Amino acid sequence: MLHTPTHTNGNPPDQPSTSQTQNGRPIQHCTLHRKDLSPSPFTQFHTWFTHPALVSTVPETCTLSTASLPSGRVSARMVYLKELDSSGGFVIYSNFGTSRKARDLETNKYASLVFWWKALERQVRVEGKAERLSEVESQVYYDTRARGSRLGAWASRQSEVLEPTSSANGNGGESSDDGRAKLDGWVKDVEKRFDGQDKIPVPDFWGGLRVVPEVIEFWQGRDSRLHDRFQYTKQDDGGWKIERLSP
Ligand SMILES: Cc1cc2nc3c(=O)[nH]c(=O)nc-3n(C[C@H](O)[C@H](O)[C@H](O)COP(=O)(O)O)c2cc1C
Repeated sequence: MLHTPTHTNGNPPDQPSTSQTQNGRPIQHCTLHRKDLSPSPFTQFHTWFTHPALVSTVPETCTLSTASLPSGRVSARMVYLKELDSSGGFVIYSNFGTSRKARDLETNKYASLVFWWKALERQVRVEGKAERLSEVESQVYYDTRARGSRLGAWASRQSEVLEPTSSANGNGGESSDDGRAKLDGWVKDVEKRFDGQDKIPVPDFWGGLRVVPEVIEFWQGRDSRLHDRFQYTKQDDGGWKIERLSP
């Protein structure tokens, strides 16, 4: 699970300045200096992720990008970060049977996650190899989901085309089916299958994906687009090199 805030680098929480406005509201610009950074990008991520200014937002929302080989075509979609695990992986949950991300990852294990925290004008970019969580690990998270979501994971053939049933014209009339009937039918089948069963096994095509980062960048918006950027790059000895990047 995502941890609670720890300011392990000994510095006080950053102090935003409010020198610009957007839609009449001040933009809170913090600054980022090398001395503020934790040697560990995971601690740094925790510190940013748990900033009080993000409490009423959904900071776990991020974009997952993947690319298929040999075409090189890239695809991106929003997902929710669910864990930052002890082995230093960013974990999301999804369908790995029929989705586009599943197809991409079959040919290319590299993936990226991007977070945007507008309240603080902060971006974090994570790049690395992705690996599936084990069935046992996925089951642990799956069990925490509401029953409807657990059944939904079984029912959905994520990103497959839903053809209208043959009796319908598919043009969206009141009584016609636009393809939703197929999904509703699968949901009914699954409800029947697991009727009266509290413990539902995680589908083998569904579960966690851990992005194990090789590069993580922390981006702090500053006035005049002269932003602060620090990039952590994983070293062979397991440590992290920290470099400031030009905005
Ligand atoms: C805010 C938001 C959060 C989402 N979170 C997830 C998620 O955690 N897992 C997931 O599989 N899809 C999630 N989705 C849906 C995906 O964006 C996407 O539609 C789905 O994963 C299929 O994408 P793909 O076929 O490109 O792999 C989310 C969508 C939004 C808008």
